[in-house]
Amino acid sequence: MSYLQHPVSEDRPVRVALIGAGWIGSFHAESVAHRIPNARLDAIADPALPAVEALASRLRVGKISADPADVISDPEIDAVLIAAPARFHSGLIAAAARAGKDVFCEKPGGRTIEELDEALEAAESAGITVQFGFNRRYAADFAAARRLIDGGSVGVPQLLRSLTRDPGTVAGIANPDRIPPGTIFLETLIHDFDTLNWLNPGAVPVRVHAIADALVAPDAKDGGLLDTAVVTVTYSNGAIAVAEANFNALYGYDVRGEVFGSAGMVTAGGPQATSATSYTAAGIGADTVRLNVDLFHDAYTAELAHFVDAVKARRAGVPGPATPGPGGTDARNALAVALAALRSAETGLPVDVASVAELRAAEPEFHPVGDGA
Ligand SMILES: NC(=O)c1ccc[n+]([C@@H]2O[C@H](COP(=O)([O-])OP(=O)(O)OC[C@H]3O[C@@H](n4cnc5c(N)ncnc54)[C@H](O)[C@@H]3O)[C@@H](O)[C@H]2O)c1
Repeated sequence: MSYLQHPVSEDRPVRVALIGAGWIGSFHAESVAHRIPNARLDAIADPALPAVEALASRLRVGKISADPADVISDPEIDAVLIAAPARFHSGLIAAAARAGKDVFCEKPGGRTIEELDEALEAAESAGITVQFGFNRRYAADFAAARRLIDGGSVGVPQLLRSLTRDPGTVAGIANPDRIPPGTIFLETLIHDFDTLNWLNPGAVPVRVHAIADALVAPDAKDGGLLDTAVVTVTYSNGAIAVAEANFNALYGYDVRGEVFGSAGMVTAGGPQATSATSYTAAGIGADTVRLNVDLFHDAYTAELAHFVDAVKARRAGVPGPATPGPGGTDARNALAVALAALRSAETGLPVDVASVAELRAAEPEFHPVGDGA
């Protein structure tokens, strides 16, 4: 253990600093402050200081800074929660690791395999815990699907499917010019690539073929926007997967997964807010979920609670959660598929994942029957 890493006793909460207090960072900040008893939000860093001041005052956080280096070097902080824009992730992971902080980082871990590898090497040398924000693994329905797969309900996976339809409006995508090129693969479909990898345990993605276009905002295509994509992924066990995404679903936020195999099929997800369904003269109706922080409210909380439990256990020198959170291998495997998909969409040709990175399958996970996480 580094001299910079404070042991955490049974009764002391893990002291967390948030880096990046935008859309998802603010939600995570509320989770740490109000929904995770083993953690305490002690500091927030974001160059947009007025927004930080408002969040800090609402959540009664004492330390704020415009510079992430301040919270990373703070000896009173145990762990950082990185929710800054993707281009800063790998540098922030490496800096936090060198300071002995445990790291929860939103996806993607980096924008290239090289920069992610540098960050993961720094984390490994420091011996810290690193977990990435692949929250779908913590959604009750997706976790149940994985347990069914582990229990043999599907047999040998043959066809997999994962989709993301981000909520939209009739006015279309707000500020399409401000969406960085590659976002649909690196920040949206990366969730689907991780889900597919995770629902096909023991296999690695081998070949990727992607088709993408700007169908929602065609005028932004020349600026690099892609808002609609379909990606096929073939796996080392022969399974064939399809991932698809669109940025403007008028009916709400729609995330689904499916695994079909030699013994059956499991499905998970969907946009319905509850199972209440109305049957009237007008037809059949149901409310839909509109925001990611509503659909994944509990999953976002569960992933952070899991991270905090792992940090607390490591620092206390006691056994941690039985199932590891999504770590460096998972972040790397999903990023490799995303980068292969980006290249395939540009060239129109299939891309071997090995040409992007040599991958290894993530460690098999332990999923006791009935384990809700
Ligand atoms: N897991 C999920 O479901 C999920 C959902 C939304 C966003 N995300 C990811 O979270 C990250 C942030 O997304 P967002 O939608 O919250 O973006 P956002 O633009 O709303 O927030 C980003 C924040 O980071 C701040 N920032 C800019 N540069 C910074 C720096 N160098 N250091 C610290 N903070 C800095 C900005 O001022 C802003 O407040 C992205 O990587 C995104 O892909 C994940």
